[in-house]
Amino acid sequence: MDILSLLIFVACILIPSLKVSTAIDTIHLSQCISDGMTLVSQGGKFEFGFFSPNHSNKHYLGIWYKNIIPQTVVWVAERAINDSLAILTVNRTGNLVLRHHDNVVWHTPSEKQAQNPVVQLLDSGNLVVREESETDPEAYLWQSFDYPSDTALPGMKLGWNLRTGREWRMTSWKSPDDPSPGDFYWGMLLYNYPEFYLMKGKEKILRIGPWNGLHFSGIPDQKPNPVYAYHYISNKDEIYYTYSQENDGVISRLEINQTSSTISRYVWMEDKQFWKVYKSRPRDNCDYYGMCGAYGTCVITGSQFCQCLEKFSPKSPKAWNKADWSQGCVRNKPLNCTNKLRDGFMKVKGVKLPDTTHTWVDETIGLEECRVRCLNNCSCMAYTNSDIRGEGSGCVMWFGDLNDIRQFDGEGQDLYIRMDASELGEQRHYKEVLILVYTTIAIILGMLLVGCFRIYVGRCTITDILRNQNRGGSEDDQDLPLVDLSTIVTATDNFSINNKIGEGGFGLVYKGRLVSGQEIAVKRLSRTSGQGMREFKNEVKLIAKLQHRNLVKLLACCVQQQDIMLVYEYMTNRSLDRLIFDDTEAKLLDWPKRFNIICGIARGLLYLHQDSRLRIIHRDLKASNVLIDDQLNPKISDFGIARIFGGDETEGSTQRVVGTYGYMAPEYAADGIFSVKSDVFSFGILMLEIISGKRSRGFYIENHSPNLVTHAWSLWKKGRAIEMIDSNIEDSCALSDVLRCIHVSLLCVQQHAEDRPAMPSVVLMLGSESELAEPKEPGFYLNNDVGATPAISGDIISINELTITSLEAR
Ligand SMILES: *[C@@H]1O[C@H](CO)[C@@H](O)[C@H](O)[C@H]1NC(C)=O
Ligand SMILES: *[C@@H]1O[C@H](CO)[C@@H](O)[C@H](O)[C@H]1NC(C)=O
Ligand SMILES: *[C@@H]1O[C@H](CO)[C@@H](O)[C@H](O)[C@H]1NC(C)=O
Ligand SMILES: *[C@@H]1O[C@H](CO)[C@@H](O)[C@H](O)[C@H]1NC(C)=O
Ligand SMILES: *[C@@H]1O[C@H](CO)[C@@H](O)[C@H](O)[C@H]1NC(C)=O
Ligand SMILES: *[C@@H]1O[C@H](CO)[C@@H](O)[C@H](O)[C@H]1NC(C)=O
Repeated sequence: MDILSLLIFVACILIPSLKVSTAIDTIHLSQCISDGMTLVSQGGKFEFGFFSPNHSNKHYLGIWYKNIIPQTVVWVAERAINDSLAILTVNRTGNLVLRHHDNVVWHTPSEKQAQNPVVQLLDSGNLVVREESETDPEAYLWQSFDYPSDTALPGMKLGWNLRTGREWRMTSWKSPDDPSPGDFYWGMLLYNYPEFYLMKGKEKILRIGPWNGLHFSGIPDQKPNPVYAYHYISNKDEIYYTYSQENDGVISRLEINQTSSTISRYVWMEDKQFWKVYKSRPRDNCDYYGMCGAYGTCVITGSQFCQCLEKFSPKSPKAWNKADWSQGCVRNKPLNCTNKLRDGFMKVKGVKLPDTTHTWVDETIGLEECRVRCLNNCSCMAYTNSDIRGEGSGCVMWFGDLNDIRQFDGEGQDLYIRMDASELGEQRHYKEVLILVYTTIAIILGMLLVGCFRIYVGRCTITDILRNQNRGGSEDDQDLPLVDLSTIVTATDNFSINNKIGEGGFGLVYKGRLVSGQEIAVKRLSRTSGQGMREFKNEVKLIAKLQHRNLVKLLACCVQQQDIMLVYEYMTNRSLDRLIFDDTEAKLLDWPKRFNIICGIARGLLYLHQDSRLRIIHRDLKASNVLIDDQLNPKISDFGIARIFGGDETEGSTQRVVGTYGYMAPEYAADGIFSVKSDVFSFGILMLEIISGKRSRGFYIENHSPNLVTHAWSLWKKGRAIEMIDSNIEDSCALSDVLRCIHVSLLCVQQHAEDRPAMPSVVLMLGSESELAEPKEPGFYLNNDVGATPAISGDIISINELTITSLEAR
């Protein structure tokens, strides 16, 4: 011990004046904590100091609720001290150091160097060591939340920090009298499809199933509730579960307990002064891991808990009949994989997915491709969607025996289990083979195309675009199905306000559900006079023929006197503006995803502009008109509507200006002159928004720029374009790629339409590394022409993001 720490040590024990009488939540370098002294968090919720469990004469450092009796300890430092002569200090390098007599018996690790470290107990129950001036939780030198004991408090993470390889897991106390780490823990096993388990050493006690996008597979009744909100975060840096308090008055905690072998959530009953068990697991026999063996399924309402899956029988009927189910079940007809094509799948509904130890996941493919992949590998025993949100997406496959399945009543997920074809019936088999053959051919062709022509991975390529065009431009002379009003009225619950999902330039958008269960989006347009019904229908039919994977599909239409209703496919993932301008969502949208979106929009727009029979100018391209599907592919919506209304105007000037401030090309906004180049302008703006995560029309006062374009331009000229990149994508992007995109956007928003590239060149520029021209000064309508455009009054301009539907030009 050096002289300084000796002095502190002596001072701490001998000078009672240092034993503060008023509650403090922080200690500094020169201060210390000994037995009898505590830190109290600012709001008085938690207390930190030494404690002794009942029936124990040992002393521990811990955190407990300040105002709850019996003392409820939520965190404890592992080492016990035999007497009350220990001292806790923080030293210059930011380590908490616990000294007993002359020895350091416990200290915290610290990866970073400290200048002026302080120890503070926060109101969340988190004890942190931080630089005195530091407020960013990510930069804490140490925090108790990173080292959970047997309790998870709101805001604590359970899972893995993939960057550092640190696990956040809850470990039980040995016993109520002994807080040292016991044998039980609650943690996430990092399989390809990760799962939380209650473990006893290496033995699995129970699992709640993998996260399926909505909830853990084994807890289908997990629902939003007034006590706590749960969150599951998975990205390249971290994967964890956490929960937050919904209501500040509710005190709840999650605790793992070795004595009772449970993990339970408690809620503090203020009036009755006790901890009520809100939920506890295992809650029934079916929760115990592997209760029914391989291919057995546990049914809590069954005559006996365990049953064999359909077309399976007990492996040992003798044991099974004595209620020893652990050996599980075997197939009635064993698989014989000499001919893969002979196999098929049996759909089992309403289950908790099997143990995921041997799984493989691909989030980018759907159920059909998943099936083919599974069929093609003899050890693949089952598959299903990895994410059940919406229609379901992603693929998970199981290899080897299927363990720990549980059957739910009415809830639960679908699982497709491999079976010999003879178990499935001939017809099915035939269909199976056809699908397999077709999809295999398609995959091979796809791979060939991709392999031969995709030179730059992750970029738009010409072949992509050609392929899409061929697919999209197919001559399909079927008339657009007309549906009658009653169908739509039923589907939308008579245009109930509850079903309204949007408001576009020409009318309201409703969500609907057909009797068949299919979800649709209905756009209700108000027709203006001056156009005959026949022309009107013809236009709609023409528009309906436009099909491209980056365009929202028009399914049907309905004409009723003054109303026309367009029925579109329904997109679950909302519109682009709700992803890029939302703090949480934007974090999940890394650069490769954003680039994919940019390319998709470019392809869709190219298709609209280039389709030989029908050149469509969108006129209102903006983030809220780009819908995003489950796979994060963009689909342009609202295309052709201007045309439906405008009749035979194809290009030129219009009496009606349709568009949105912030996206409108100057010549269009001011003079009503539109062309494919005004769409290119809007596309340029959209790209800038995707890259910066900022709205085109926002306030950029600190930069002395009235809007995003002028801001981008001024940074570009100063060679500081990097500064406009959304901080959420800094980690996931190659700067040169993003800079190239900014460059392309600036070319798109040049003031003079003739300087702007057309969409084919835009797509080429995005997909290659060729030299780009220097952009000229951008045009921006608000910047240059506010005064010069009497047609637009001040109060309309102030409405952000509203589509201007009918604005008569001078
Ligand atoms: C110990 O027991 C006493 C009385 O039974 C109780 O008041 C106190 O809260 C208990 N302490 C702990 C840590 O359980
Ligand atoms: C506490 O006492 C036990 C036995 O009485 C001894 O083994 C242990 O080393 C002591 N611990 C400390 C920190 O002094
Ligand atoms: C602080 O304590 C840790 C752990 O005992 C030790 O490694 C480190 O050197 C100490 N730093 C100083 C400045 O004493
Ligand atoms: C665990 O459960 C037992 C029995 O329900 C209870 O007595 C004990 O206080 C709980 N807590 C700990 C830390 O063991
Ligand atoms: C598998 O099937 C092939 C032909 O369908 C047959 O010749 C072979 O004996 C079978 N093997 C087993 C183990 O049943
Ligand atoms: C089947 O999948 C397993 C697990 O991914 C893999 O190890 C094996 O090589 C695959 N077999 C074939 C024939 O692809």
